[in-house]
Amino acid sequence: MEQSQNDFIVVKAKEQGVQVIGLTRGQDTRFHHMEKLDKNEVLVAQFTDHTSAVKIRGKAIVMTKHGVVHTDTDE
Ligand code: TRP
Repeated sequence: MEQSQNDFIVVKAKEQGVQVIGLTRGQDTRFHHMEKLDKNEVLVAQFTDHTSAVKIRGKAIVMTKHGVVHTDTDE
């Protein structure tokens, strides 16, 4: 799949044990990877042929080219 080099996300954990879960691309949507972040740990990741969506559990800041989202607020 053609993808921009800039197409990555940044996840910063605001608490201990934030989970970043990779969901498979294609008809079948299942978890294929789980990354656990310590408080203030930062993950920089890209979507790939295997990963089309990411689910984040816990308090975190998610930064993409679309903007910044805090998982623990209503905005
Ligand atoms: N396996 C699905 C797909 O590649 C994963 C997915 C992507 C998805 N976007 C979604 C599942 C939106 C539910 C809603 O399309």
